[in-house]
Amino acid sequence: MQDANTTVLVQLRDVEKTYRTGEVEVQEVRGVRLAIERGEFVAIMGASGSGKSTLMNILGCLDKPTSGEYVLDGLGVAGLDRKRLAALRNRKLGFVFQSFNLLTRTTALENVELPMLYSVPIIPRRARRQRAIGALERVGLRERVGHYSNQLSGGQQQRVAIARALVNRPELLLADEPTGNLDTRTSIEIMGLFQELNESGLTIVMVTHEVDISAYCKRVVVMRDGIVISDNRNEVRRCAQTERAALDEVEHTARLA
Ligand SMILES: Nc1ncnc2c1ncn2[C@@H]1O[C@H](COP(=O)(O)OP(=O)(O)OP(=O)(O)O)[C@@H](O)[C@H]1O
Ligand SMILES: [Mg+2]
Repeated sequence: MQDANTTVLVQLRDVEKTYRTGEVEVQEVRGVRLAIERGEFVAIMGASGSGKSTLMNILGCLDKPTSGEYVLDGLGVAGLDRKRLAALRNRKLGFVFQSFNLLTRTTALENVELPMLYSVPIIPRRARRQRAIGALERVGLRERVGHYSNQLSGGQQQRVAIARALVNRPELLLADEPTGNLDTRTSIEIMGLFQELNESGLTIVMVTHEVDISAYCKRVVVMRDGIVISDNRNEVRRCAQTERAALDEVEHTARLA
């Protein structure tokens, strides 16, 4: 089914997801209708077990709905086989997780080059390297390209993960609790980066438990027991860049005192 040439990037229609464990079938997503336009920055919130990650897995084409329809960038996902789904993920989607998921004993540069190894058409080695460096530059890590994952702070590791998610120039960035393992200051930095990427046109969907973090987004969707219970524009957005500058100022003053 084609919905091309619209501003809608993600369209979920009555999506359900049922898991079967042994004899028992449990419906974890129970009829979600959701349209996300290009350029949005959406927070998905809700209690533990409310179906956020299940929904993200569907959005990320890592899992298919049991019923209902998912149209991503004009393309119905239901009819695609595993190979086509993988190609779609590689071309259109970027993923960021709570636990960074970087390869250990591997440099920042190599981690970021990785998704390009599966790109069709093939990206030559030299171009891969240049693009990876460009992505690391974009997240402020130009000076750290040769560092191994374990030589980087949590915030820096998350930046590498974001660079890796960006390197194939996705239409949609999906982030599941990206600040879950980070302290407040580093969380603000990462939200600053997300706001910047969003301003430059990237569509972002981010799961978070924290109201404070959802406040950086343009829209907040709340789930409960597998359904969307509220979906609102965020009229008073927090601005990470301003907050960071204020924090710097406070710390500077404290050092002088
Ligand atoms: N692969 C699976 N097989 C069976 N049940 C699953 C599977 N994945 C998730 N579930 C169940 O689906 C429900 C929703 O899980 P989900 O991971 O989507 O919740 P969540 O909102 O992301 O929670 P959290 O905030 O804790 O991450 C849970 O009850 C979980 O046990
Ligand atoms: Mg989850």
